[in-house]
Amino acid sequence: MKNPFKYGESVSGEHFTNRRKEIADIKSAIRSAQNIFIYSFRRLGKTSLIKTVLQSLAGERSIIPVYVDLQRAPSVGQFVEIYSAAIGQAFIARGEKLKKIGALFKMIIPSFELTETGGWKISFDFSKTTRGTEKALEEVYELPQKIAVERGKRVVVVFDEFQEISQYDGSAFEKKLRSFIQHHNEVCYIFMGSKTQIILEMFQDPRRAFYNSADIYPLPLIPGKDLVDFIIERFASTGKRIAPATAGEIVSLSRRSPYHIQMLSAHIWTVSGNKVKQENIRTGLDAIMLSQNELFFSWYDSSSLHQRAVLGTLAQTRKIFSRDVILTHNLGSSSTVQASLKALTRTNLVTREDGKYWIFDPFFEIWLQKKMEI
Ligand SMILES: Nc1ncnc2c1ncn2[C@@H]1O[C@H](COP(=O)(O)OP(=O)(O)O)[C@@H](O)[C@H]1O
Ligand SMILES: [Mg+2]
Repeated sequence: MKNPFKYGESVSGEHFTNRRKEIADIKSAIRSAQNIFIYSFRRLGKTSLIKTVLQSLAGERSIIPVYVDLQRAPSVGQFVEIYSAAIGQAFIARGEKLKKIGALFKMIIPSFELTETGGWKISFDFSKTTRGTEKALEEVYELPQKIAVERGKRVVVVFDEFQEISQYDGSAFEKKLRSFIQHHNEVCYIFMGSKTQIILEMFQDPRRAFYNSADIYPLPLIPGKDLVDFIIERFASTGKRIAPATAGEIVSLSRRSPYHIQMLSAHIWTVSGNKVKQENIRTGLDAIMLSQNELFFSWYDSSSLHQRAVLGTLAQTRKIFSRDVILTHNLGSSSTVQASLKALTRTNLVTREDGKYWIFDPFFEIWLQKKMEI
């Protein structure tokens, strides 16, 4: 039987739960062409959410959704290739003729390739521009609005992992992109980002190009009760029963992170019989500790001695700045603790919110707790 839990890739359908309010909010932003910036910690379900929204709009001919994954675009050149391809792909999905799609682009020449599933894939090679990269870039930037106006449709452009653009050429790219999109009143831009200082500053700092360019939408956690129901239902779909209290324990061990919930549940599913027992949680967690050991060790290993001490302490208490804690854990002074926390936040092992610090990955935290015991 197939494991009913899924993690890693974005999820949809039966693997996706709730988000009713968020789906409705995003849809209404799309209909009114209100740009939004959606952010959350990593793996909280941004990509799954936006893909679910776009999928639910697929039947509406008046909406043209364009999904751009910037994780695949580490340079401006690749950005434009991927962006152009995403626009082309949106028209392929609508069943438009390839010749007509090709005609959208004047300065770069698309190539079409038949896929294994019998569909078409469009791609671009930016070294083959007819009039220089800069002009070709501008053509692509202008396309969503041009299409929206010419065809009388609402174009939705999603930039997933938008913080990636900060790696390009500093503020020049940001300014340029903003200068184009600010006139695009027929297009809804949805910027998505993982919660880091970098992306928050992009939208919240008055000196930055994207300041005031979008409604800011922090993606909330899914309510605990819905997560419990989801776990129970997924187990039940394969004929297994789990008590609400046991499902609740999975949710709290995972700190309500859907990724971790699905990972832990998947392991518990593997080791459990028709009725999930309390002790299956331990066995499932042990299996995760084993499979993640190498990864967690590499995170630990790449941290300095003092940072490791801070990690170990944080795994036991969040009162990292208390004098007693600093003394008992031999952390030196609060300024060295501050410096280590800063470095650990940069490498994403530690997260900060409202002046409080904690270990980002709940299972890494458990791994550290076990490590401190021995
Ligand atoms: N609404 C949801 N219901 C159930 N699981 C979810 C949901 N959203 C996310 N997940 C879980 O979290 C994982 C990461 O989701 P993803 O959408 O890739 O997050 P992000 O884009 O924020 O990094 C998924 O693989 C899935 O296991
Ligand atoms: Mg994502």
